[in-house]
Amino acid sequence: MFRPLLATALTTAMMIASATATPADAANARQSQGAAVLHQREPMSIGVFYYPEQWPRDQWQRDFNGMAKLGFSFTHMAEFSWTYLEPEEGRFDFKWLDDAIDMANKAGLRVILGTPTGAPPSWMGEHYPEVYRVDEHGQRHEHGIRAEVSLSNAKYQAFVTRLVTAMAQHYGHDRRVWGWQVDNEPSSFADFSDSAQDAFRQWLQHKYGTIDAMNAAWGGSFWSTRYTSFNQVLLPNATLAAEDKLSPHALVDLARFQADTTGHFLDAQAALIKKYASPEQWVTTNYTNVSTATDPRRSHDLDFTTFTLYPVAGANVLGGDSYAIGKPANLMEAAAYFRPITGTFGVMELQPGQVNWGEINPQPMPGAVSMWIWHAFASGASLLSTYRYRHPLRGSEMYHEGIVSTDGVTLSRTGREFVDTMHEIQSLESKLDAHAQLPKRIAARSTGYLWSQDVFWDLEIQPQTTLWNSWSYRNTYTLAVKSTGAPMDFIAEGDDFSRYPFLIAPAYQMVSKALAEKWRNYVAQGGHLILTSRTGQKNELGHFHEGPWAAPILDLIGDDVDGFDMLPASADGHVTAAGKTREWHRWADILSPRAGTEVLATYADHYYAGKAAATTRRLGKGTVTMIGVSTDDGELEREIVRSVYQRAGVAIEDLPKGVFVEWRGGYNMMVNYNPQSFQPSLPQGAQIIHGKAPLAPAQVLVWKDATP
Ligand code: GAL
Repeated sequence: MFRPLLATALTTAMMIASATATPADAANARQSQGAAVLHQREPMSIGVFYYPEQWPRDQWQRDFNGMAKLGFSFTHMAEFSWTYLEPEEGRFDFKWLDDAIDMANKAGLRVILGTPTGAPPSWMGEHYPEVYRVDEHGQRHEHGIRAEVSLSNAKYQAFVTRLVTAMAQHYGHDRRVWGWQVDNEPSSFADFSDSAQDAFRQWLQHKYGTIDAMNAAWGGSFWSTRYTSFNQVLLPNATLAAEDKLSPHALVDLARFQADTTGHFLDAQAALIKKYASPEQWVTTNYTNVSTATDPRRSHDLDFTTFTLYPVAGANVLGGDSYAIGKPANLMEAAAYFRPITGTFGVMELQPGQVNWGEINPQPMPGAVSMWIWHAFASGASLLSTYRYRHPLRGSEMYHEGIVSTDGVTLSRTGREFVDTMHEIQSLESKLDAHAQLPKRIAARSTGYLWSQDVFWDLEIQPQTTLWNSWSYRNTYTLAVKSTGAPMDFIAEGDDFSRYPFLIAPAYQMVSKALAEKWRNYVAQGGHLILTSRTGQKNELGHFHEGPWAAPILDLIGDDVDGFDMLPASADGHVTAAGKTREWHRWADILSPRAGTEVLATYADHYYAGKAAATTRRLGKGTVTMIGVSTDDGELEREIVRSVYQRAGVAIEDLPKGVFVEWRGGYNMMVNYNPQSFQPSLPQGAQIIHGKAPLAPAQVLVWKDATP
C-alpha cells in the first residue's frame, strides 16, 4: 500500500513549519551532498534537452551520438512524458526510457530526468476531472495543455506520489542518471477549486489560530468584511470585486498560500526521490527566472536551484536593435536571486534560437546566444542546458528552433553559435583557477539587494498608479548597481548584511521595527545603505504605522517624509540634481531633510518645489542614502547609486547602459547588450583571451589582468 506523502493536511502542516525557518538557516541546511556531486564535474557542465517520445525510435541513437559529438556532456529527458510512463492508471512502462537512457549512456552522455508532473495524461482528466484547477471565472481547466492541475488536490497529489515513487525506485540507483528536475517551471496559477478553497482555510487557521487574529490582520473592521469562522472565508477573487474592494492583506496571504503550495509540492517530490535514490544523484527544479508566482526560499529539499532563460522574445529595453540581444537585467537578476539560496545555481534552459511563444519572435542577433552563455558562465553558473536539441516538426512549439534544424542533423545558425561557444568555454575552463580569490577592488563593491516576495506582492496589490511597475522598478536598480561592476546578491531580511559593504532595498514597503534596527546597526558599523521610494510606509503586516509617515526609517534617513505624489502622464514633474533636470511621473516621496542631512536632488515644481527628492547622510561609520523619486528614465537613480560607491571611496567601473563585467576564476568577462559598440579601457598589461575591443553589440571580451 502506498501512503500519499502529499496529503493536503500534511502539506499544509509542513508549510506552516517551514514558514518560520530563516533563509540563512535554509541556506546552511542546503549545502547538500547533491550540490557537491554537481561540483565534481566541469566548472559549468553543458547539456541539451531531448524528447525521445517525439521522435522515431530508430533516430534516438543517431541523435544522442550527435549531441555527444558536438561536445554536450549531458542530456535531459522525460519532463513531459507521463502519458508514456503511465499509459494507463497504475500501469507503468519504463522500458522505452530505459532504452533511451541506455543509448544516451552509450553515446557518453549523463542524464537528467524530469518528473513529468506538469503534464498529466488524458486518462486522469477523463476519470478525475477534479485534478484540474478552476480559474477565477469558475472555469475548470482540462486536458490538452500542460500545468493546468490543482496542486491542492489530494487525488492529484496521490498520483504524483505514486509516479515519483516508482520513478525514484526504478532510477534512483541507476548510475547513468546524474540528477533530477522535479516538475517543469513550477508556478502558482490562481486556483479556485474546492481543494484549493479547503487548503486555503487550513492554511489560514494554522497561520492565525483564531478568526479574530485573522480579522485583525486583514482589517476586518473595514466595510463589515470580518468573518466569524474560517469556513466562511472564500479565496479572494479579484474578478468579482470592483476596484479596491478586496482586502490587500487577504490578497498578500493568498499569494503566500499559493507560493507555499508550490514550494511544498516541489519539496514533497524531492523528499520522495531522496528517500529512494542514491546520494550520488541530486535534485533541483527549473524555476521560471525570477518569478513571484513561486518562492524558491520556501522549498528546502532541493540541492540547488536552476532557472530558465529566454532573453529575446520581442521586448526592447535599450532601443535600436537591442530587442535582438535580449533584456539586459534578466540573467543578472536571476543569478543574483538564485545563487545565494544554496551557493550553487544553473541555467536549466537557455534559449537556443528563435522561440514561438513571444508576442513577436525575432531572431537573436548573431553573437547573442554566445554572449548569454558567456554571461551565465561569468555569473557563476555550474550547469547550463539549452532547450532543445531538435526543432519540433509538429505540436504547439513547432516554430521553436533547436540546436539542429528541421532535418534533425544540420546545426541551426544559433546551434552552430552555441556549439562553438561551448568549445571556447570548455577550453577556458581548463585554465580557470577555482581557488582564485575575488580581487579586493571588486570585493569592495559587493552589494546586497534586499528582496522579499511579500514586499513585491504588496506593491503589486496596491500600486496606486498605473505607471508603477514593480518589475521595471527593480530592473532600474539592478542595472544601476551592475553598472558599477559590483557583484550583487539578492538577500533576505534574515541574512547577514555585514557581508556586503553596500546594501540596497528598493521600494521596500514593509519595514518592521526589527528590520529598521538591523539596518541601523549595519550602517553604524560602516555599511552603506540605499533606500528608495515607498520604503518603510507599512509594517510587516502590511498596515501603516501609527505615527508619522514611514515612521521606522525617519531617524535612519535623517528626513521627514511629508507625503508622496504621483502624476498623470499629461502633467509635468521635474527634479534637479547636480545641475541636470529630469522628468518624473511615477512616484515622488516628498522629503524634508533634518539637520546634518545632505540634499542630492530637489523637486522643481508643484507645491513642494524646493523640497528634497533624494538625500544622503553619514551615520556612525556608514552612510544612508534615500532616493525618494522614481524618474521616467532612471538616469537620476543610476547616478545617485553610483555616487554612493564613489563617496565611500570605492573604485567603480564606468560602463555605459547595457555593458556589464563579471569575474570568474581569474578572468574578467565583459558583455554588451547595448546596440552600440563600446571601447573599454583595459588595465595596463591586460591579456585578451577572447573577443576584441571595441566591443560590438552582442559580443564578449574576456581578459586576464596582469596583476589580480
Ligand atoms: C520554457 C518551458 C519549456 C518550453 C520552452 C520553450 O518556458 O519550460 O518546456 O516550453 O519554454 O521556449
